[in-house]
Amino acid sequence: MTETKTNAMWGGRFAAGPDAIMEAINASIGFDKRLARQDIDGSRAHAAMLAATGILRDSDVEAIRKGLLTVLSEIEGGAFQFSTALEDIHMNVEARLKEIIGEPAGRLHTARSRNDQVATDFRLWVRDQCDAAIAGLEALMRALLAQAEAGADWVMPGFTHLQTAQPVTWGHHMMAYVEMLARDRGRFTDARARMNESPLGAAALAGTSFPIDRHMTASALGFDRPMANSLDAVSDRDFALEFLAAASICAMHLSRFAEELVIWSSAQFRFVRLSDRFTTGSSIMPQKKNPDAAELIRAKIGRIFGANVALMMVMKGLPLTYSKDMQEDKEQVFDAADNLMLALAAMDGMVRDMTANREALERAAGSGFSTATDLADWLVRVLGLPFREAHHVTGSLVAMAEGVGVDLPDLTLSQMQSVHAGITEDVFGVLGVHNSVASRMSYGGTAPAQVRAQIARWKEILA
Ligand code: ARG
Repeated sequence: MTETKTNAMWGGRFAAGPDAIMEAINASIGFDKRLARQDIDGSRAHAAMLAATGILRDSDVEAIRKGLLTVLSEIEGGAFQFSTALEDIHMNVEARLKEIIGEPAGRLHTARSRNDQVATDFRLWVRDQCDAAIAGLEALMRALLAQAEAGADWVMPGFTHLQTAQPVTWGHHMMAYVEMLARDRGRFTDARARMNESPLGAAALAGTSFPIDRHMTASALGFDRPMANSLDAVSDRDFALEFLAAASICAMHLSRFAEELVIWSSAQFRFVRLSDRFTTGSSIMPQKKNPDAAELIRAKIGRIFGANVALMMVMKGLPLTYSKDMQEDKEQVFDAADNLMLALAAMDGMVRDMTANREALERAAGSGFSTATDLADWLVRVLGLPFREAHHVTGSLVAMAEGVGVDLPDLTLSQMQSVHAGITEDVFGVLGVHNSVASRMSYGGTAPAQVRAQIARWKEILA
């Protein structure tokens, strides 16, 4: 058992210091040092308010203000000595402030607790991450828009069940991800707006008897307003969970796209070529160009959604208000945020660099009887067949083509007429993939004209 001297912050009640194991399980400084800037911003806002309300003398607050700036520059310059004995970022900063300015440092914690302090710091940090995610998403959306614009009318197979379904356009496929990422952006925007209330001044849990001005600190920190219930302010982490939920859904979208890139870049598909900058080689197989970035993006959902689940589990059984369990919120969110930003940046780079293989896309678009639906629609439109009968006739033609070993447009007119006598030469007009996509002019459809309209809309939104 190692015993250190009693704690400077609460030693009054304690005869002995903590066991080394207690210190190890209790300390958060190893990770919450990432909250240094937010912690000091919060302290500066709090101190300025304590002066404005006359709770502290101006001269003390001026010393605190200057001292905090010194601490911040020490931390940002890498000179700061973090101490595990001082447990967390809040006490590390305050202890150093005391070394620098002496007695007034002990007045900073008036009308405040580490409970509202950490809730404030963490909200500020997560709020920044929402902004970073939004910026990352917008960059990626722009990269997708550029791809969509270049290939608005390039044809490719559209899939259901990963089986050839109907021809679509490359631009349409890229724009599908723009829509998904736009909803992700919306989720971060919504979460940010909801979390933008200040816990500061809730103190330990009940508020304080000092005449503080919570509106002042809230606005100094860019919050819309103070949180209205002090118990809620120190005890919920739903803002972090909303961030993790939005991050999880976003990572899921990135993972699906990454999976497509893995498939598309394979020798069997050759739909896209990924750049050297976002692929790796093999140490034994010289021909290999592996889509490692895409694979890792695909995998990131694991830890990001894992963080979401982990924090949900931490929170689910906690009675109000603060419990030390909640210290376990940070590493999960830090890790999820770091990896989401990395995944967004890697996807952005990959999409920017990637080259779609127009010929391979077009060749694949016409295979697999992809225009069978167009043929059935033609039988309905021109010959007046009920759709169910048209479906049956088309099915027989597909079976015939499959038997002969050709694609639908390669059947002769007489072969077609042997299945349905009414078919005319005109049918060949709808069997081509370009006609097929051009005909899908319904709103949100794959016709190049529709795709271009969506590209224009998004360019305006993102301008
Ligand atoms: N390091 C702590 C955390 O992250 C700060 C709050 C500590 N409050 C307390 N009452 N022990 O949750």
